[in-house]
Amino acid sequence: MKILITSALPYINGIKHLGNLVGSILPADVYARFNRQRGNEVLFICATDEHGTPAELAAQEQNMPVAAYCDRMHKVQADIYAQFDISFDEFGRSSHPDNHALTKHFSKKLEEHGLIEERSIRQLYSVDDKRYLPDRYVQGTCPHCGYERARGDQCESCTRVLDPTDLVNPRSAISGSTNLEIRETKHLFLKQSAMVEPLEKWIDSHTDWPDVVIGIAKKWLKEGLEDRCITRDLSWGVSVDRPGFEGKVYYVWFDAPIAYIATTKTWSDKAPNERNWRDWWCEGHDVRYYQFMAKDNVPFHTISFPATLIGSGENWKKVDQLKGLNWLTYYGGKFSTSQKRGIFTDAALEEFPSDYWRYWLMANIPESGDSSFSFEKFGEQVNKDLNGVLGNFVNRITKFCVANFGAHIPEGGSFGPHEEELVADLEALIKEYTDNLTVPEYRKAMASLRAIWVKGNNYLAAAAPWTSIKTDKDAAAVATRVALNLCRLFAVLSAPIIPATAAKILKAFGEETAVPSWPTSVRVALDALKPKTPFEPIPVLFERIPPERIEALTEKYGGGESGPVA
Ligand code: 2FM
Ligand code: ZN
Repeated sequence: MKILITSALPYINGIKHLGNLVGSILPADVYARFNRQRGNEVLFICATDEHGTPAELAAQEQNMPVAAYCDRMHKVQADIYAQFDISFDEFGRSSHPDNHALTKHFSKKLEEHGLIEERSIRQLYSVDDKRYLPDRYVQGTCPHCGYERARGDQCESCTRVLDPTDLVNPRSAISGSTNLEIRETKHLFLKQSAMVEPLEKWIDSHTDWPDVVIGIAKKWLKEGLEDRCITRDLSWGVSVDRPGFEGKVYYVWFDAPIAYIATTKTWSDKAPNERNWRDWWCEGHDVRYYQFMAKDNVPFHTISFPATLIGSGENWKKVDQLKGLNWLTYYGGKFSTSQKRGIFTDAALEEFPSDYWRYWLMANIPESGDSSFSFEKFGEQVNKDLNGVLGNFVNRITKFCVANFGAHIPEGGSFGPHEEELVADLEALIKEYTDNLTVPEYRKAMASLRAIWVKGNNYLAAAAPWTSIKTDKDAAAVATRVALNLCRLFAVLSAPIIPATAAKILKAFGEETAVPSWPTSVRVALDALKPKTPFEPIPVLFERIPPERIEALTEKYGGGESGPVA
């Protein structure tokens, strides 16, 4: 099966926090890794979202030209995701020429179908800055909640979507000037109001979407789809090639999702004889398309982007399954990029290896509701599950084997009642784990994975080779052989979640190249490492995190003290 996976494109400005990571890129990566192991043909695409006011303002703050700023931040972000072992097939850029060309193509097609209209609208103009002030270029007081630092596109405090002209006491975010006037200027509108019917029909055909996703899409449809202004008075972006539109570009939310397709083209152009981006993006190629995103992105993926695809009148592939995630909070409050509150991905990697984070974040993914990060909870779960259950199992049995049989898989003995029970239990648990990952329902999947590890520990406690070694060497040999095969099986099953740890275990057993495919039979899997196969010592997989360390981390990053409530 061909599986196309996209993760919401991270904005180029700044380094992302853990909430951003677990909100789209990490669950998308787990899905990609799982499906590759299952033997599916996977394409996992992402890119930096580089246009619009966030990029321009961040570049200005750094005193850098915006293009140079984006070059630098793309590399910084790509490097961090590589350290988190995110297995993108392509991590592109929405500013790539492929995306400029494709965005213009869509605009042209939409226009040919009568879905684009020129309209004059009232915009804030800063006399002192000599420019229009779209979106985040304006700050002022929110007319709904009175928050004084609301941005022109959205109020961070009450989350309402705003228009710059809604703000009370508006001021320029560039100079702080309040010398603003309202001027008439021309913009392009996408006539979404003319597309309610086809959109509704398409949404209704997806009865298997999560309730939260269907709810958001239906709410937008019900409230009446407004025609959407798809251009802005900015210089950085995809230019609008049209008389009278000099100095205007397409709105960032118009070009960003198109970058999913453009980045696939970039990927395919790197090996044109083997890859064809159209095989992934044109209907009729038997592709199943999964999108991962945080819930604030759902309207853009259920309404706006499909409107672009459907409105073009062309045969574009649309999403099949849409995974919308809730928020991860930091001690119950908001992670905030602007207020630097929480733990960011670069700092996280300086504290602990990637797998510690990947495991904790997936085990606590905000799937059916928000979930909250704290160093205390992080430490507790790392100690219990990773150090206590998985790490301890691998460590204990490899050491026992070396001491009693040498550094190879012992021979002798055959399956008894303990082993038969283990096979039956694991068959059921692995099926459950596989089914949960397939949906995907990650909280359930993580519970299944933990149950699989625990089952291994229970087996070892019951088979107790350290006791039988004294009286029945064959019984001790079979238990040790089975437990070592369990180490390998745990690595195979855990690889989508904790790939670096899985690789360490597999390497010790001489499987260094590819990640082994997903098991189809427990009996076969427990016989994968044959007697006499040598293995290397496995280093301690997960360090225990002591309470003093947790205390130091909360001190360093700011723990329980209150921030804005999420
Ligand atoms: O919300 C965000 O972080 C956006 N940068 C996501 C864009 S996703 C896409 F459609 F391009
Ligand atoms: Zn508000």
